[in-house]
Amino acid sequence: MSGTLYGLGVGPGDPELLTLKAARLLAAVPVVAYPAPLQGDSLARTIAAPHLAPGVEEIALRMAFDPERRADEVYDAGAEAIAAHLAAGRDVAVLCEGDPFFFGSFAYLFARLGQRFPVQVVPGIASPMACAAVAGHPLTARDDALVVIPAPRPEAEIEQLLRAAEAAVIMKLGRHLPKVLRVLERLELTGCARYVERAGQPGQALLPLDEAARRGAPYFALILVHKRGKAWI
Ligand SMILES: C[S@@+](CC[C@H](N)C(=O)[O-])C[C@H]1O[C@@H](n2cnc3c(N)ncnc32)[C@H](O)[C@@H]1O
Repeated sequence: MSGTLYGLGVGPGDPELLTLKAARLLAAVPVVAYPAPLQGDSLARTIAAPHLAPGVEEIALRMAFDPERRADEVYDAGAEAIAAHLAAGRDVAVLCEGDPFFFGSFAYLFARLGQRFPVQVVPGIASPMACAAVAGHPLTARDDALVVIPAPRPEAEIEQLLRAAEAAVIMKLGRHLPKVLRVLERLELTGCARYVERAGQPGQALLPLDEAARRGAPYFALILVHKRGKAWI
């Protein structure tokens, strides 16, 4: 019988923000796989480290860090290495920062292995939830419509999406921060926007937009917009 492929959400950074189910599976699976930079530590593995079983076999999917470039060969090779374990009856947990099905790279392995092996996805705390907690402001309330906007989208599309929503999460900021700030200013939304970087990770910060603009945004940063202010009152 083949093993099960687990897409395991490990949350945004703090190892305590990992579900009991993820912790139980981490202590039990014989093999873990995770995305990693060409050199250095994998964020997902660092988060999961306190929960890993001693002697667990590790498959690091090492790739150049460019969130806007495809890494097909790395995922092809990684999928085959994982498939060999699954075919031999060993369960494999793929560690995913945040939630596996929320912009998670697990989707690329799911696409390659999901038809061949049993799959279980264990949801994780996703970054918008972690960042709302850091910001100390509800993400949505009452009947707010929430839109999730990847910052690499063209400026005009970001503007159109933001106009339509009552609450928004703008993800994948990095070098796109100046473009996003231009749109927020044009729509007069800077007063209801909150910038959070590295929620739950070392260096976590809630910063005024102008300070973020001065310093520049890392990849692990997002902006929350809540147009209706205290909609919950
Ligand atoms: C490829 S997506 C992965 C999202 C992840 N699967 C999740 O559930 O949150 C990466 C983007 O998520 C956001 N992000 C992820 N973790 C974050 C964190 N700890 N703090 C702030 N933003 C984060 C950033 O906008 C980043 O560019």
